Amino acid sequence: MKTLTITRPDDLHLHVRNGAVLTTVIAHTARQFARAVIMPNLKPPVTTVAQALAYRDEILQAVPVGLDFTPLMTLYLTASTTLAEIQKAAECEYVHAFKLYPAGATTNSDAGVADIKAIYPLLEAMQQHDLPLLIHGEVTDDACDIFDRERVFIDTSLTDISRNFPDLRIVVEHVTTTEAVQFVQDAGDNIAATITPQHLLFNRNALLAGGIRPHHYCLPIIKRESHRLALVKAATGGNPKFFLGTDSAPHLTSLKETACGCAGCYSAHAALELYAEAFERADALDKLEAFASFYGADFYRLPRNSGTVTLQKNVWKVPAAYGEDSVSITPLKANEELGWKSL
Ligand code: DOR
Ligand code: ZN
Repeated sequence: MKTLTITRPDDLHLHVRNGAVLTTVIAHTARQFARAVIMPNLKPPVTTVAQALAYRDEILQAVPVGLDFTPLMTLYLTASTTLAEIQKAAECEYVHAFKLYPAGATTNSDAGVADIKAIYPLLEAMQQHDLPLLIHGEVTDDACDIFDRERVFIDTSLTDISRNFPDLRIVVEHVTTTEAVQFVQDAGDNIAATITPQHLLFNRNALLAGGIRPHHYCLPIIKRESHRLALVKAATGGNPKFFLGTDSAPHLTSLKETACGCAGCYSAHAALELYAEAFERADALDKLEAFASFYGADFYRLPRNSGTVTLQKNVWKVPAAYGEDSVSITPLKANEELGWKSL
């Protein structure tokens, strides 16, 4: 049987929530990935080092015994973040970055930043401390078409941030457009991007054609085919600026299958399998290891992992849902077949 063995990977963009959802999802990530960059958009958001340390403890408590998993914590940037907190974060070995959500851009982003220029002194401090800035790159202007919000953010905010802070390490999270790929490619080595499995596998027809599919709804929204092709090319092209970040974002099924459903695809149950499918379709399985296990660690200046994970060519059916009845989470590709299975 065909197998693929790679160095144990890292997920450089992950939502695990807390409480019962955390307990339901964490083993899925911990059995495949050695480390994951944990997003701070809880309610209330994780804005201080003290909160990040408490959240880290909660995550570690939830990891099943026998699995070796390290959460890499991030802080949620707000207009009230202080320079002292940035210094504290820089000195804390468990905090690896700040996350910038434009206010109102996505799930639990109300406390995000409304005026990006107003927080430039904070970005200056991050640059000085060499703390990476992770950006949800979408404008929040109601008048801007949802399919244009990433492209417009590049022109109205990202270009200016990168010019003003030439040494700030920036990850443009979950890139979804040709324009974002181009921006990252053209930028200096201090700017990189994560790419999700859903944006490699689907275009917007998978969201909207023949019926609306709420489990394919995430932000930034899935775009047209030409953008998907640009993302596949970037992910499989061996460029260290592009690395794995699932943006696995669990929501209760009841909150997605409703008149106004939440944004987020739950992909942690089969993250590597989904990426393997995308890379195999592009005839680039040989490029998966560096994308999943080397480039992200290098960008975050972490040692590459030891140990390996093995995927087997083996068709299996993804369950309809994970979790107890009260915490039912519908995974990406629910009730569908996947061609790879991790051992
Ligand atoms: O689809 C998304 N879900 N995009 C985000 O940016 C946030 C995430 C979430 O937290 O649910
Ligand atoms: Zn996210």
